Amino acid sequence: MNTQLIDRFDRIHTNLRISVTDKCNLRCIYCMPEDMAFMENEGIMSFDEIVYLTRVFVELGVNKIRITGGEPLVRPGVPNLIRQLRGIEGIKDISLTTNGIGLAKQAKALYDAGLRRINVSLDTLNEEKFEQMTRRKMLAKTLEGLKEAQRCGFNPIKVNAVAMRGFTDDEIIDLAQFARENAYQLRFIEFMPLDADDIWGRNMFVPGKALIGKINETYPLAPVYTNGDGNHEPAARYRYLDGGGEIGVIASVSEPFCDQCNRIRLTADGKFRACLFSLTETDLLTPLRAGLPKKNLANLIIDAVKQKEAGHKINSTDFVKPSRNMSMIGG
Ligand code: 5AD
Ligand code: SF4
Repeated sequence: MNTQLIDRFDRIHTNLRISVTDKCNLRCIYCMPEDMAFMENEGIMSFDEIVYLTRVFVELGVNKIRITGGEPLVRPGVPNLIRQLRGIEGIKDISLTTNGIGLAKQAKALYDAGLRRINVSLDTLNEEKFEQMTRRKMLAKTLEGLKEAQRCGFNPIKVNAVAMRGFTDDEIIDLAQFARENAYQLRFIEFMPLDADDIWGRNMFVPGKALIGKINETYPLAPVYTNGDGNHEPAARYRYLDGGGEIGVIASVSEPFCDQCNRIRLTADGKFRACLFSLTETDLLTPLRAGLPKKNLANLIIDAVKQKEAGHKINSTDFVKPSRNMSMIGG
């Protein structure tokens, strides 16, 4: 590898999250509005374009890929994309974040394509609450998808739960218990201001410390220390003292980890984003379609990484929300 995606703060970016669609079969209130306007099809990267751009990123040191959406599995053919990406030398790890609805049908094809790691978003086990949070009656489908993924052999299966005040508070233990019983790794994620309806507020998320404190009262926990250098995992991890596995919290708002960030993002319409909260982005798809040579595309990426901000400003008075909501970035 000759070049690295290194920024002004010496962070080396090796982890690329690729959104394959902005569409979704749910409408989670912390993410999308009910009447979301989706991107035009012509503006969405084809799989060939995704693979081409991924190769450019891999030549710049990227070795870890996560497929995201919207909901990635609403786009037909994702197993084929996984298969093609696996063929790129230099990629050490591929994973997928899904709401689980498509897994009952597609888990096997994904597994056969070589995918082993998945994250399934599930915020509640209560049907009514699920409908309030996602505006759809689909809890059973998500649970069915989780089961099918396990049956196929996915490991680890992580369950992402966005922690929202008024929704998550009284279900923390139930979710922990559910994950323990099924050998899923639960990850609570603090609700971030990337929703479309502007419902986010300082009092709208449950802080990571409170979540862990609560779980510790029922199921005693000990921190998992990952070796300090090179630990880019956003989750603070804990293990159950009784051997019941692990749990993590992603405290992006209350305890930002921006100084350790190694993540970069490519949106479904081929825009490069150095940070979830970037206010600028770099179009890679238009120049790619215009025939810009690989070297020049690489330079666009290198320059954009150099512009990466020190961190998000959620906790500062001059915070400005990006114009894209979560489903248009990919999480
Ligand atoms: N804050 C935190 N997490 C979010 N997600 C979607 N919107 C938000 C938000 N505003 C999560 C989804 C999924 C992942 C892609 O991001 O639940 O797990
Ligand atoms: Fe869909 Fe995920 Fe957004 Fe929910 S959070 S609406 S599942 S993209």
